[in-house]
Amino acid sequence: METVTVLLENSMDETPKTNGVVGTPPDTPVLMKGGNYIREGKDSHKSTCIIFSLKEEVGALAKALQIFQKNQVNLLHIESRSSKRSPGEYEFIIECDTNAGHVAMAMDALRDSCHYMKIISRNYKDNLDVTPWFPRKIRDLDKFANQILSYGSELDSDHPGFTDPVYRARRTMLADIAYNYKHGEPIPRIDYSPLEVETWGKVFRQLTELYPTHACKEHNHILPLLIENCGYREDNIPQLQDVSDFLKDCTGFTLRPVAGLLSSRDFLAGLAFRVFHSTQYIRHHSAPYYTPEPDVCHELLGHVPLFADPGFAQFSQEIGLASLGAPDDDIKKIATCYWFTVEYGLCRQNGQIKAFGAGLLSSYGELEYCLTDKPELRSFDPEKTGVQEYPITEYQPIYYVAESFDDAKEKLMKYAETIPRPFAVRYNPYTSSIEILDSKPQMDNLLTDIKQDINRLQEAMSRIAFEPKDI
Ligand SMILES: [Fe+2]
Repeated sequence: METVTVLLENSMDETPKTNGVVGTPPDTPVLMKGGNYIREGKDSHKSTCIIFSLKEEVGALAKALQIFQKNQVNLLHIESRSSKRSPGEYEFIIECDTNAGHVAMAMDALRDSCHYMKIISRNYKDNLDVTPWFPRKIRDLDKFANQILSYGSELDSDHPGFTDPVYRARRTMLADIAYNYKHGEPIPRIDYSPLEVETWGKVFRQLTELYPTHACKEHNHILPLLIENCGYREDNIPQLQDVSDFLKDCTGFTLRPVAGLLSSRDFLAGLAFRVFHSTQYIRHHSAPYYTPEPDVCHELLGHVPLFADPGFAQFSQEIGLASLGAPDDDIKKIATCYWFTVEYGLCRQNGQIKAFGAGLLSSYGELEYCLTDKPELRSFDPEKTGVQEYPITEYQPIYYVAESFDDAKEKLMKYAETIPRPFAVRYNPYTSSIEILDSKPQMDNLLTDIKQDINRLQEAMSRIAFEPKDI
């Protein structure tokens, strides 16, 4: 349904699903086309993750595992799959406990006994108190863009396009484009097929009927601008690059294509740079009003209009900034706040409740439902909202109402102050980088900037006050 549907699903499960690590720079993991590994787990795991491949033969894995047994190393997690690197081989990814046993000797022995082996992440004991890694420059987003939880072309058996080879090939092609994308490059334009455009048209027609009465005023204000400037039409799927350029002019937000599902931590980090990871494919034509995952309809109709609003853009960036370097438990809370605002948020406008969450604005059924008297409405309060459980396969029984984007932002910033990290962060738009405020010189620089802005404000106010026409 949403990027975050699955994203949160994963973040709530503390069992390491696969590898990669939170807590070390993502330079080390093995990146490869067609799939990757990322681990969702506690930063405090004292473990090392290894990937290795073995020929498909009886007992091969048992032999490899004996190496760990011999060296008294406990295994915490193991996964396997066919190797895309070496046909005829199986790849195994294991996480081993580094608290006991002879880990280094086990690694050496394993390296000698298999065709391919690489250590893809480590969590050293003396690293336990370090802040989880986070991107400092906008280019750093390239480092984790391909550490995805599942490749965009891998469909579940109950996916509407599962048995359609043409659709699957299309998904692979689009996922590969995103996989190879690097910051600063233009997003490749897609020549959408008539069938894809028809699917978009059905969704576009249905949703635009409901927006005037159900969407927040910001969404209704910006959609006509997207129609005018970015080719939003029933018979045209807008191109991500055009939309990204439009957003850049409005609020500095940009889009970046994504090849699959990112972890909550990585996805939220993008928002700190005003970067939104967007899919580029469309749902299967056999089910135009249903999608089990985010697609261009969800991104372009649900998310994009709001990112063009300055207040919402600032709120979204604050969510991202709050997530940088936060412990896992707080990432889960922040991601839940994201869920109940950016994805499923309601707001109060002129005494009425309106929808601003992208999950609502891209689903006709739930957009109608959310404004009925069936769901329970509560005031947005990050402390409480952040720990609220929610279903991911049905309409939400509870929605949180923001008084305004500014109010939601203030509350979120207050909550962010309680996140245990030994510094504050600030985004520098001139260098597109994150500044860490943890020493006096950095705070002095910030103070100088603030003083200059206050001077400018005073000057502007004095000029307005003494304009001849105002006297
Ligand atoms: Fe979404």
